[in-house]
Amino acid sequence: VIFESSQDASIIVAQEIATLIKEKSAANKPCVLGLATGSSPIKVYEELVRMHKEEGLSFANVVSFNLDEYYPMDKNNIQSYYYFMHEHLFNHVDILPENVNVPNGTVSPEDLHQYCIDYENKITELGGLDFQLLGIGRTGHVGFNEPGSHFNSRTRSIILDHITRADAAPSFLGIDNVPRKAITMGVGTVRSAKRIVLLGWGLNKASILKETIEGEITGQVPATYLQEHDNTTFVLDQGAAAEL
Ligand code: GLP
Repeated sequence: VIFESSQDASIIVAQEIATLIKEKSAANKPCVLGLATGSSPIKVYEELVRMHKEEGLSFANVVSFNLDEYYPMDKNNIQSYYYFMHEHLFNHVDILPENVNVPNGTVSPEDLHQYCIDYENKITELGGLDFQLLGIGRTGHVGFNEPGSHFNSRTRSIILDHITRADAAPSFLGIDNVPRKAITMGVGTVRSAKRIVLLGWGLNKASILKETIEGEITGQVPATYLQEHDNTTFVLDQGAAAEL
């Protein structure tokens, strides 16, 4: 779906999430949301915060799982995704702290493998993700599933691609400060979501979105695996859709 602007699009996506939260709440069920970081979802979160403050949208039944976190990474570090999510969403709504899940970038290397299995199991035990919000990296990654990721991969640690680290360099004041690893939900974790919305804004994303949407399905562009998911919408602005 192509919108005039990312602002208009973000409002529609936020409305879909709000409707789902309310439906689940009316049925006395948790709403399990898979959430993303990066610049792309910021306006969606802004709109959800506005709905909470002005329209009384409650997040009391929301259980959230973030896609990824740098590794190693302290929660209090302003570059952490933990910090990002609290700044942009969690600190401004009534989600219960115990219902917030962001991969923990301080787990010891010995415990990391089991930690990832536990993260994945927690999602499964809740009945899976009801909704997964995604951005896309210029390597075609979703979460931090870099080229080479298997379509059935699950939550695990991963080595970041050079392009990904270069794109992150400005916020870390130099590429040398960007962690070399991350924890990410897998492509399989993402694909098991009942509904997926991928956001793409701006000319900078036009080329990778053409490959993602119209290209051959390949592990070299992990986002192409979404073509096989039967309830995914790619939500783009004019710039991002320029090469379609
Ligand atoms: C990072 C995140 C991804 C995100 C991507 C794009 O790599 N791990 O989940 O989609 O950045 O970020 P942006 O939305 O800022 O373009």
